[in-house]
Amino acid sequence: MTSYNLLILPGDGIGPEVAGEVEKLVAWFSNRGTVRFEVEKDLVGGAAYDASGLPITDETMQRALSADAVLFGAVGGPKWDGVAYDVRPEAGLLRLRKDLGLFANLRPAICYPALAEASALKREYVDGLNLVIVRELTGGVYFGEPKEVVTLENGEKRAVDTQIYTTHEIERIARVAFELARRRQGRVASAEKRNVMKTGVLWHQVVSEVHKDYPDVALEHILADNCGMQLVRNPKQFDVIVTDNLFGDLLSDVAAMLTGSLGMLPSASLGAEDLVTGKRRALYEPVHGSAPDIAGQGLANPLAMIGSFAMALRYSFGLVQEADLVEKAVANVLAAGVRTKDIAAPGAPTVGTAEVGDAVIRELDALTQ
Ligand code: NAD
Ligand code: IPM
Ligand code: MN
Repeated sequence: MTSYNLLILPGDGIGPEVAGEVEKLVAWFSNRGTVRFEVEKDLVGGAAYDASGLPITDETMQRALSADAVLFGAVGGPKWDGVAYDVRPEAGLLRLRKDLGLFANLRPAICYPALAEASALKREYVDGLNLVIVRELTGGVYFGEPKEVVTLENGEKRAVDTQIYTTHEIERIARVAFELARRRQGRVASAEKRNVMKTGVLWHQVVSEVHKDYPDVALEHILADNCGMQLVRNPKQFDVIVTDNLFGDLLSDVAAMLTGSLGMLPSASLGAEDLVTGKRRALYEPVHGSAPDIAGQGLANPLAMIGSFAMALRYSFGLVQEADLVEKAVANVLAAGVRTKDIAAPGAPTVGTAEVGDAVIRELDALTQ
């Protein structure tokens, strides 16, 4: 029986709460006896900082590097507001992305029919919505140097972040977007700001060049601010949106609200395929953060985390039927009216984090009987 090495990094706030529900799914699949998961758990973010003074230790990094896949909850929170910038909780996640080479972040935004009323938009705008944001994840202003605050001679301070993109970085993320679009509706929108930024000019040029290898895919260039507006005006016009690290961060939070809640959006962060083994490093995490406002109350929606596990089944383990099964179970649970507060109509009954996880397990049982 195939055995996979899974590293779970629950993190902070609601991270451990939603990761706990995925552990139920991991156990469910292991108990079925067709696939085995060797699960390791470790600290990341504020929890790691409290234990070691670092948001991720070298030992944890080693585990992440040797795992078949990493499942990540969320990091950060007001408790760590005062810690030094270099060791803030979020730095642990950024190190994982950078050192694992996870340049391609897929953030699908799917509006389940049962949730069309939970969206911030009217039903007709979101019903049937199925788009994916392909966010570049290891470059741009997140990692460009210099990145600093300097004190000037007159005592004023100057803060600098640097947006950098190379041809290679743009080319490989563009290929991911075109390849993905080929398996979907065949449309890519590339979002940048070439009207203001040199990186935008290069982005536009390189994406156009890569497009020549994909004549079967339609390419549209769109300015990133307009893209944000179009996501709210008419989101169903989009199939695949490819964009840089920062724009991808913003646009995916916008896309989340089209689906009903930030608690619904999963993601996969993928590295390059190894030419010899065909394997790729990967980390799966919900798009949302540690949600300090609801942490510790059992209110968090675990479906973004559960959806991220489904993406791990699909992209890291090639367990496509199992991934479909999880997604079907989630759709059925939603269709049955099971709702955490974030996706419930005002006044409608709600359940907690664990009840949603349990409902998904019951549905998995029912679907496989
Ligand atoms: P957030 O995503 O944590 O929360 C934004 C809002 O969405 C909150 O009202 C929250 O209650 C709600 N929300 C988020 N996830 C939810 C879920 N699963 N179920 C129900 N409601 C949910 O963003 P924030 O408040 O801006 O950031 C809080 C902390 O999280 C910060 O420290 C930030 O840096 C960090 N953060 C971490 C990640 C990550 O670890 N990947 C992502 C985003 C933010
Ligand atoms: C995300 C988060 C992260 C980001 C933070 C926590 C570093 O907002 O994954 O969307 O900005 O990439
Ligand atoms: Mn974000």
